[in-house]
Amino acid sequence: MRNVVIATAAVAALVLVGPAAAQAPIVLKFSHVVAPDTPKGKGAEKFKELGEKYTNGKVKIEVYHNSSLYKDKEELEALQLGAVQMLAPSNSKFGPIGVKEFEVYDLPFILPNKNAVRRVNDGKLGQRLLKLLEPKGMIGLAYWDNGFKLMSANKPLREPEDFKGLKFRIQSSKVLDMQMRALGALPQIMAFSEVYQALQTGVVDGQENTPSNMYTQKMHEVQKYTTLSDHGYIGYVVVTNKKFWDDLPADIRTQLTKAMTEATKYSNEISEKENSEALAEMKKSGKTEFITLTAAQKTAWKKALQPVYEDAAKRVTKSLIDEFEKEVQGAATN
Ligand code: LMR
Repeated sequence: MRNVVIATAAVAALVLVGPAAAQAPIVLKFSHVVAPDTPKGKGAEKFKELGEKYTNGKVKIEVYHNSSLYKDKEELEALQLGAVQMLAPSNSKFGPIGVKEFEVYDLPFILPNKNAVRRVNDGKLGQRLLKLLEPKGMIGLAYWDNGFKLMSANKPLREPEDFKGLKFRIQSSKVLDMQMRALGALPQIMAFSEVYQALQTGVVDGQENTPSNMYTQKMHEVQKYTTLSDHGYIGYVVVTNKKFWDDLPADIRTQLTKAMTEATKYSNEISEKENSEALAEMKKSGKTEFITLTAAQKTAWKKALQPVYEDAAKRVTKSLIDEFEKEVQGAATN
């Protein structure tokens, strides 16, 4: 009798599991390190909304903001292992997995404005760089903008000499390391989620980031001075695990690609506004004093940072830097 009951239960379970399993949605985890209220956070939410809609719920997109799943370096390893299916790390973070070419974006003052960013990303060079990710088990689906960086510390940063001996948090990019050393500062690689506390406790003296990242992490509350330097740019590559993407049913992949195209347009359209609003909020708070560089000070920064180009050529190659600069010049004359 007992056996009959067990067998009946097993058959019932099979009957239930069959159709339920067929309907189980494909789960796509999208992990990232910044706040929901940023260009990247909003872009990820837009992709979730559109991706679930276009696939009629056949794909469930779970967005994990604020490093709630993985921190900087861990998230790329997790993507390669297939523990997470989508990320949008900054260009600066691909070095540790062996794709150092994206560090060309970190060269100081290489990108003068958003037009130039668009031109490089959408052109031949940007598309060729994405291909470098495939041997690493990932596919680059899109470029998402954040914006231009501010430099902050507890002392005013006006002249290159002001950086001397200060410890600065940087992302995991050798070119950013070179940049800080050229200014006489001591760079320290640190995960984004740890920056606020490190600034608060004095583990580092300063940092560089976009207004939206500074504001949403409250960094301005623990930095007395912020220089409006626009010395560098932070943008992202949306990446997916190659095996996951290749194994998707073709119709689903088409719909997710459509969702990504639209989410990319949306995120890139709001990025400037998000950053200028964050800057306005920080100004309003009065917690950090903003410094505008004079033309002479900006020239001095550029001069101090020029040697970074020669150093970086050894890492990303001179021909890549030249090609990048050529694309940028094309944007200026367009
Ligand atoms: C950083 O680590 O400062 C940035 O890459 C964070 C981000 O994703 O914008």
